[in-house]
Parts: sequence; structure tokens; C-alpha cells
Amino acid sequence: MTDVIPVDEDQLRMEIQRHYAEVASSPDHEFHFHTGRDAARQVGYDESIIDDIPDDVIASFAGVANPFHFGLPGKGETVLDVGSGAGVDVIIAARAVGPEGRVIGVDMTPEMLDAARRNADRMGLDNVEFRKGLIERLPVDAESTDLVISNGVLNLMVNKHGAYKQVARALKPGGRFQIADICVDKPVSEKAKRNIDLWTG
Ligand SMILES: C[S@@+](CC[C@H](N)C(=O)[O-])C[C@H]1O[C@@H](n2cnc3c(N)ncnc32)[C@H](O)[C@@H]1O
Repeated sequence: MTDVIPVDEDQLRMEIQRHYAEVASSPDHEFHFHTGRDAARQVGYDESIIDDIPDDVIASFAGVANPFHFGLPGKGETVLDVGSGAGVDVIIAARAVGPEGRVIGVDMTPEMLDAARRNADRMGLDNVEFRKGLIERLPVDAESTDLVISNGVLNLMVNKHGAYKQVARALKPGGRFQIADICVDKPVSEKAKRNIDLWTG
């Protein structure tokens, strides 16, 4: 199966990085999507798993739903967050897997990676790691992961089929993929598909 690429992928990635660099460095700005603690509450995170996350740590959360709706990872599991942003889901997963487990976040935006590393340090977590990279070429070993999560990321990607293939490669046999994302129930017009602003917005 070949994906039809309606926009320039490199240009789209550049625009996305520009956008999310701002979410990382100036989370108090107004964006066209909700961010921070209010967004996490709105999309259904259990108050008990976010209430002790400090405001400045949760401020750059930019997820669209709750990937833990289907359950938290188990103790000792290895979790991969693709498009991990400022690392809020990584923090939640790291606390669930405990010291025997491990969580890896992958993101392409340097400012988000910096924020995520700062946030993990601030939370005193030493079972997490953030790697710079593209989901289309995930920098993780094959069959290394029990659970892959993603939050608000696949809708930003042209090559969704390639992303699913990479996730499947990263998962151990029997591993799980818990996706929080945006779905449309009407076909998107060709004109809209070619409009980069609609992809990043
Ligand atoms: C909407 S934000 C969500 C961040 C995080 N999951 C959260 O819930 O706060 C999307 C993130 O995905 C990253 N991203 C988008 N496309 C990517 C790609 N192709 N490869 C790696 N990261 C990507 C962006 O840099 C950004 O940090």
C-alpha cells in the first residue's frame, strides 16, 4: 500500500517544528488548540494521575485525548511514546512501570526534547530517556517495546502507513498500541489536504 503524499513532507515537518517549539518555549501563548492542565482535564485524564504534576511541567502538554483510557502500563514494562512532546505521558507511564520498567520518548522538535528532559529531571525520574528522531524512522530496536503510546501525533503525519509499520516493528510479539488522536468522519477534500496550515492546525 502506498500513501498519497499531498504536501511536501519536509516543509510540513518544518512547520510542525516551528509550531511546537513555541508550545515548548511559550506555553502561555494562545494556540488554536488547548494546552496544559486544562487540556489534560478536558480530554479525560484522571485527576489522581495529574494533580501532583507541577504547573510548569504540565504547561506544554498538547495532547488531544487520553492514551491511558485503555489502561496504564504494568510494572516493569517498556513503553515508547512516539511524538512525546514535553513528556507528560512519559512521566505518567514512568510512574506506572516503576523502577524496573523503562519509558522512551521520541520527538523531532529540539525544544520539546529539551522541555521533556527538564520535566523528567524535575519529577526525579531516572527510568526515562528522550531520543531525537522521526516516527517514520523510529530510533529504537525491533521487538523492544511492550506498549507504544501516541497522543495527537499521527494526525500531523503524511505517511501514517509508514508510522504504523514502525510501531509494529518496535513492538514485541503481543505488544499493544494505545493511540489518542483526531479522526474525521467525512472525506477530506483534495484542496484541504494540500493546505499545510490545515495540517498543522
Ligand atoms: C500535538 S504535539 C503532542 C505532544 C505530546 N504527545 C503531548 O501529548 O503533549 C505533537 C508532537 O509530535 C511531534 N511530531 C510530529 N510529527 C513528528 C514526526 N514525524 N516524528 C517525530 N515527532 C513528531 C511534534 O514535534 C510534537 O512535539
